[in-house]
Amino acid sequence: MVDLREALHAAQAAIASNLEQMHARGQYILGPQTEAFEEAFAAATGGSYAVGVGSGTAALELSLRAAGIGLGADGTPDEVIVPAMTSLFTAQAVLATGARLVVADVSPEDLLVSAETLRATWTKRTRAVIAVHLYGQPCRLEEIAALCAERNAVLVQDACQAHGARVQGRPLTKFSPYCAYSFYPTKNLGALGDGGAIVTDDPEVAERLRLLRDGGRLGDQLCRQPGHNSRLHEMQACYLNAFLPYLEGWNDRRRVLARRYRGALSGTVTPLLRFDADSVNHLVVARSSTRDALRQHLAACGIQSGIHYPVPIHEQPGLLEFASWKVQPQVASQAAREIVSLPVAPHVSNAMADAVLQAVLEFQP
Ligand SMILES: Cc1ncc(COP(=O)(O)O)c(C=O)c1O
Repeated sequence: MVDLREALHAAQAAIASNLEQMHARGQYILGPQTEAFEEAFAAATGGSYAVGVGSGTAALELSLRAAGIGLGADGTPDEVIVPAMTSLFTAQAVLATGARLVVADVSPEDLLVSAETLRATWTKRTRAVIAVHLYGQPCRLEEIAALCAERNAVLVQDACQAHGARVQGRPLTKFSPYCAYSFYPTKNLGALGDGGAIVTDDPEVAERLRLLRDGGRLGDQLCRQPGHNSRLHEMQACYLNAFLPYLEGWNDRRRVLARRYRGALSGTVTPLLRFDADSVNHLVVARSSTRDALRQHLAACGIQSGIHYPVPIHEQPGLLEFASWKVQPQVASQAAREIVSLPVAPHVSNAMADAVLQAVLEFQP
């Protein structure tokens, strides 16, 4: 599904030069590579500031903390709504703040939360919503941001699968000041290890996040508030600086592949999920009532596939104790049994995509 060798080959000169500069300086944490990357990544995503942190999970957790979410003033946990269909790390970020999880179901056509599914599970203690731009498709942000504003809740965007995504040309930061990204190696923009960032237009939010990621320090030995140790490493920033100029081209390639799959699979028994024109196609996901047999057939043809995600949040054994919902998230439960992610990445050639399509189309349920 993912092979970084081509990316490493294309960017090798820039990588070598960045690493050499890092070693010459001998600064491995919060140095010029991280600073340069923060500036370039903010610009690439259309935001004003980026704060590099240790992972996408940390980017989500620190966003919630920067917004004051966790234990309420009376000691009772705040409630944060998360989609039933997302990475389990979205939920872990909420629990790390001391808040409680409230699970919202998703819409059947794109598996995203909407204002409608959020409203259905909203409670008196709801203080924040995490809108996950699943598979690279931005959520319907206008309506979700309006709902959060009306109900005085914080909107955090989980853009861990949506590097470069905009909504009809508008950057994600126009809808809320917390846009959390992951640079896990398989992402549209990946490092060679863990990494993450929060992008915002708000200078005060950026300042709070810089304090939170570095133990309450600001480049000195003074602790101004309780914080974390979660910084984007200088070495990962060397790779990210070298890869970033390719992001747009890689996203274009993903778009071409997604169209190719869509054209061939529409009207078949294994259609793709609804295609969002603003999507950066982190994953291309089909639905099949005989998904497991289809995956076995693909594997027999030498084709890898994935499931994102096989267990929805409200069915995760380790999360049950900390999660609640008002409406049973049935759409997510059903989808988890039927979805299959097909190979879509910049290294996937047209011939490879056609081989995938042929295998899907010849599959007899
Ligand atoms: C939607 C989503 N949220 C959160 C995360 C967590 O990111 P990380 O693995 O960098 O902590 C991921 C990545 O796995 C993700 O895909």
